Amino acid sequence: MADTVWWKSGTVYQVYPRSFQDSDGDGIGDLRGITRRLDYLAWLGVDAVWISPFYPSPMADFGYDVADYCGVDPLFGTLEDFDALVAEAHFRRLKVILDFVPNHTSIAHPWFADSRSARTSAKRDWYIWRDPAPDGGPPNNWISNFGGPAWTLDEATGQYYYHAFLREQPDLNWRNPSVRAAMHDVLRFWLDRGVDGFRVDVIWHLMKDEGFRDNPENPGFSSGQAEINRFAQVYSADRPEIFDVIAEMRAVLAPYGERVLIGEIYLPVERLVAYYGADLAGVDLPFNFQLIQTPWKARSVAELVIAYENALPPGGWPNWVLGNHDQSRIAARVGAAQAGIAAMLLLTLRGTPTLYYGDEIGLAHVTIPPDRVQDPWERNEPGHGRDPERTPMQWDDSFHAGFSAGEPWLPLSPDAATRNVECQCDDARSLLTLYRRLLRLRRDHTALSTGGFRSLPSSTAFVFAYERHDGDATLRILLNFSASRQTIIDTAEDGSTWAILLSTRPDRPISRSDDAMVLEADEGLILLRDPAGAYPRHHVTV
Ligand code: GLC
Ligand code: MG
Repeated sequence: MADTVWWKSGTVYQVYPRSFQDSDGDGIGDLRGITRRLDYLAWLGVDAVWISPFYPSPMADFGYDVADYCGVDPLFGTLEDFDALVAEAHFRRLKVILDFVPNHTSIAHPWFADSRSARTSAKRDWYIWRDPAPDGGPPNNWISNFGGPAWTLDEATGQYYYHAFLREQPDLNWRNPSVRAAMHDVLRFWLDRGVDGFRVDVIWHLMKDEGFRDNPENPGFSSGQAEINRFAQVYSADRPEIFDVIAEMRAVLAPYGERVLIGEIYLPVERLVAYYGADLAGVDLPFNFQLIQTPWKARSVAELVIAYENALPPGGWPNWVLGNHDQSRIAARVGAAQAGIAAMLLLTLRGTPTLYYGDEIGLAHVTIPPDRVQDPWERNEPGHGRDPERTPMQWDDSFHAGFSAGEPWLPLSPDAATRNVECQCDDARSLLTLYRRLLRLRRDHTALSTGGFRSLPSSTAFVFAYERHDGDATLRILLNFSASRQTIIDTAEDGSTWAILLSTRPDRPISRSDDAMVLEADEGLILLRDPAGAYPRHHVTV
């Protein structure tokens, strides 16, 4: 394939900076720590690193409440540390993607202080202020994503301000042209420092209904769900005007060349793909979280992949995500035995994969004792917190797993002494080795990175089978989602010879058969069509 722009052929690795590597012993990861671990990322074989926010912040939402868009919080380092990180990353051919948080600032941002000071403030309209309802209550029924009303009354000026998240995160008014201009300057500030793109936080939230109409009730709501689900977010998010905002962001990026714009969007497939925009004028990659939300069954995943592929607009490049700092870890969700299947799926589907730090060593959830809870969402709505998936990276079996010389801000997993990078890096059977091999295969076979996709009929409900192809090269991927052995028979077999490139179980007994292929429990296989017989012969049919 000729089109090999880096964000299509490459892979993205998400770093949650508090939890990746601490360099100064305060128990909180920092920019110098990330720089120290760039060799690891290069060794692993990823192409880009996306760093969650490190800007000055009161940390009410751990950096997603920004008090200064053009700085570095002292907890994480300095602008010089950031410049060094970019230079060292680029030296290793790693791209750097920043987290851009345009929907809201921190309550501590000088813009908000100004806006709040008086109804007549020049920046009053930079945020969303409304008069109370006739009964003195909030202006409408919108709910915060972290529970409770999304409006807070400012006693001094007698109006409510809107916050889709915490009350410490007031929403900016993107209908105001001065807000847009100021935020475009922020993008330019970082582009001028050499960043390769942005992951845009809650991009589908930026524009709200002009009339602030009440959201309709969600008939599917059940009491176990977070309160935000009580209403369908019809008027508070995913408004048509968002596409003008995105077009303007793209125009800011355009003169800088191959920069990527990724949008964080939690919407069903048909709405999600709208964010590619008419004529692909939207974001390059609307983050696709569907694998996180789909039951872990071969049939469900196969149906999802096909539905998503079919829903893509012409030329729209797919992408896949298994986890992030807001979602249950994949190893916790599917179990250790299936973690290898998840890795093989993520790294062989068509589209840019984003890996979440720690998933490559099978980090699962860490139980957080009540006195160590950090996430404000957990305090508002117990059970919904995100601390379990944000625990420190485990590097080795030394003190605090090599993460920090001080007490880590969140507890380490109890298995840190054995589940860590050092233990797994030389172990041929480890998950880390599997990730590394998969990333290597993606570089060696363009069929896997930028090639086409075709799903295959499978004779068992437990196996998801598909092909990736580029020119004459064809690879077959067979994923056994079950804990029992599966025999697959393919009636459409054309007699090709296939070589096994990779198994999630390197110790698998090699089974040979003319008309059947055996997959061990929890096994995934990558096969290469081998017309020339150049590889060790292994005739299998699917
Ligand atoms: C995004 C972030 C999440 C944050 C929220 C508010 O969803 O990923 O961590 O809490 O936005 O900024
Ligand atoms: Mg530190």
